[in-house]
Amino acid sequence: MRLQCTLCGKTYALDSLKYVCPDHGNDGILDVVYDYAEINRVTSPEKISASRENSIWRYWDLLPLKNRADIPKLQVGWTPMYRAKFLGAQLGLENLYIKDDGRNPTASYKDRPSAVVVAKARELGERVITTASSGNAGAALAGMAASAHIPAVIFVPESAPQAKITQLLIYGARVLLVRGTYDQASDLCLAAAKEFGWYCRNTAYNPYTTEGKKTGALEICEQLAISSLQSPISKWLAPDRIFVSVGDGNIIGGIWKGLRDLFALGWIDKMPKLMGIQAEGSAACYNAWKAGTEEITAIEAHTIADSIDVGLPRDGRRAVRAVRATNGEFITVSDEEILQAMPQLARGEAVFAEPAASAAYAGLVKAVHAQKIDRDETVVVVITGNGLKDVKSAMRAAGEATVIEPTLEAVKRLEIRD
Ligand SMILES: Cc1ncc(COP(=O)(O)O)c(C=O)c1O
Ligand SMILES: [Zn+2]
Repeated sequence: MRLQCTLCGKTYALDSLKYVCPDHGNDGILDVVYDYAEINRVTSPEKISASRENSIWRYWDLLPLKNRADIPKLQVGWTPMYRAKFLGAQLGLENLYIKDDGRNPTASYKDRPSAVVVAKARELGERVITTASSGNAGAALAGMAASAHIPAVIFVPESAPQAKITQLLIYGARVLLVRGTYDQASDLCLAAAKEFGWYCRNTAYNPYTTEGKKTGALEICEQLAISSLQSPISKWLAPDRIFVSVGDGNIIGGIWKGLRDLFALGWIDKMPKLMGIQAEGSAACYNAWKAGTEEITAIEAHTIADSIDVGLPRDGRRAVRAVRATNGEFITVSDEEILQAMPQLARGEAVFAEPAASAAYAGLVKAVHAQKIDRDETVVVVITGNGLKDVKSAMRAAGEATVIEPTLEAVKRLEIRD
C-alpha cells in the first residue's frame, strides 16, 4: 500500500507523509494505491458478502488501516439501498435505487470518512483532531471523536443550520463558528492545525477521507449483486449510473476511487457513469467540466443546499476527472428544484433528505426530462444527508399543517377522505 500524488503521480510509502505531496502543496492530494493481487489473495467478493459485519469495516482489506482496535465503535455504513419502484414508475425507469446514507449514526455520508480518519488518528497516536466543515463532516467527526474519546475542534460557518451546530455541541466538540464562508473556515482550520499540531481531517487535504467515502461505492455494487439474487456472489454488480451531489467534490471522487478499486480487482465488469449534481448557485465543478478543463475557478456561491454551498471546491479537479473518465455528466439544479425534490422523495419512497441530498434526485428528474437516461438502465441515487439536518428548509418544502379546535366537529368539517 502506498500514497500517490494525484497531480504528478509520484508515490510514497504509506504513512511517510501525513497530508499532501511535498512537491505540489495543497494541490498535491494523495490517493492510496493498493496491491490488488495481494487483496485478491486474502479476500474475495464471496468472503465479504458472507460477512456479518454490517458496516464499512466489512471492507477492512480494502482500507488503509493497521489495527482493528482503532475503529470507532459506532456503526457506520451498510446503509439500506431501496428499490424505488414508485418513483421509478413515475420517471419511467425500471431499475431505480435509492441509497439512504441519512441512516448513518450522525445522519450523513460523512460518517464514512470521519470513521476512517478517526481510526487513523488513533493509529498515529494523535491528541487532537480538527476539521473545517459546512456542517455534516464536522458533526460526523464530532460523533466519531466522541466515540473514541479524542478531543475535536470544529470550524463551521456561522450560517450553518442549527441542527448541525447542535450536533457538534452535544458530542462535546470545541465549536468555532467562523464569521465567513466555508472556504474561509477551511483555510483557517488548516492554519490552526499547522500552528497547534492538531490532526487535520480537512477534505482534499487528509488522504483518508476519500478512502472512507469510497465505501459507499463498494456497498452499492455489493448490494446490487445481493438484490439480483445470484448465488454464490462471485462478482459484484456495477449500476449504469450513480447520481451524487457535489460540493467540494470529495464524495464523487471517493465513489470513483471505490469503483476503480473494484474494477482493478476484477470484482465488477464495468464502470458506472458518474453524474455530478450541483446547485445552480454553486456550480464551480460544472463550470470547469463544461469548459473542458480541470482547472477550477472560484465563484461566489449561494444555494439553499448549505452542504454544497462551496465557492472553491477543494477536490474539484478529481470530481471533474471522475465525471469525465466515466463518461458521466455534470447537471445543475435550481434551489426551487431542490426543494421540490424533497417531498417527492419523502412521499414517493419515504426517504427524508436534506437539500444537498435531494439535489441528487432533482438532478435525476432533470436528466430524465432531458431524455438522457434509458428506461432499462440501472440507476442509483445517493441520499447523502437526512432531512432533519435542516428543518427550516424542510418546512419550506413540506407545506402547512391544519390548526383545529379540539372537537370532532372540527375534524368533520375538513371532509378528510381515505
Ligand atoms: C449532505 C451532503 N451532500 C453532499 C455533500 C457534498 O460532498 P462533497 O463536498 O464531498 O462534494 C456534502 C458535503 O458536505 C453533504 O454534507
Ligand atoms: Zn505531486
